[in-house]
Amino acid sequence: MVIYSAPGKVYLFGEHAVVYGEPAVASAIDLRIQVSVERSKRPDIRTDTDTVYIDRVIEKMGVDEPLKIEIDSQIPPGSGLGSSAAAVVACIACINDEFGMGLGKREIAKLGHEIEKDVQGIASPTDTYVSTFGGMVLVPDFKSIPPLDCGIVIGDTFTFASTKKLVEKVADLKKRHEKIVSYIMRAIGELSRIAEPLLYSKDYKKIGELMNINQGLLDSLGVSTEKLWKLINAARKNAWGAKITGAGGGGCIVALVDETKKNVVIEEIERAGGRGISTRVGEGVRKE
Ligand code: PMV
Repeated sequence: MVIYSAPGKVYLFGEHAVVYGEPAVASAIDLRIQVSVERSKRPDIRTDTDTVYIDRVIEKMGVDEPLKIEIDSQIPPGSGLGSSAAAVVACIACINDEFGMGLGKREIAKLGHEIEKDVQGIASPTDTYVSTFGGMVLVPDFKSIPPLDCGIVIGDTFTFASTKKLVEKVADLKKRHEKIVSYIMRAIGELSRIAEPLLYSKDYKKIGELMNINQGLLDSLGVSTEKLWKLINAARKNAWGAKITGAGGGGCIVALVDETKKNVVIEEIERAGGRGISTRVGEGVRKE
């Protein structure tokens, strides 16, 4: 039996603008999915979510013997934290190892991205890349950035929203207001560029302020909701900055916090009706 785990991710800057070629900053988190694979007499996939991604991994990797696969996740599904990418990446890594296929990390990330695209219709390579390599990266070049060493708190609204629909909603807005929405996309891209050196120097106060500006711009694109704002405002009482992570419309927020304020930020998020989760920058896919 082989066991691999892979991390989820957050966007610190740049979601939506990245669809239009602007840079973004994403980070692996220490919430992980663990997948075990063993050859078996009959196929048996044990997971809390649907098996469509795993079925596709098996098919695409050309495995024609029955497998017993078990998936154990710490990542809330459907919340923009990249749980499907983590499951896909960990499963590819298991099959790669069990069958001696010799895939390297780049090939695992690429195959993972193809599988996400097959299943979802659209998918950016961010989730599978970050889940494979871990750490923090500047997208689309996947230039690695030294990991933040402060607290990261996620707030889950417990509401689900489709990334595809939100990307379409933003595209519609852009069609109707081409010039101004193009400016907004460029401004969001600029935030990632400005943030990059601050991430190196770990200037959390300024990074937090830029995250708050990014949230304002995401709101202007129509992807924030009352619930997301409630959690963001609750977190901001004690955080350096807080914003949506991912497509918005529901899902999660991410806040950067001083280690000593983590618990109070979590409490505020929970008082506002969400689930607060403390995390850190995570490692990429690894054998357990
Ligand atoms: O909701 P998530 O975590 O899948 O992130 C979506 C990010 C977008 O920029 C809105 C879309 C994309 O594919 O990059």
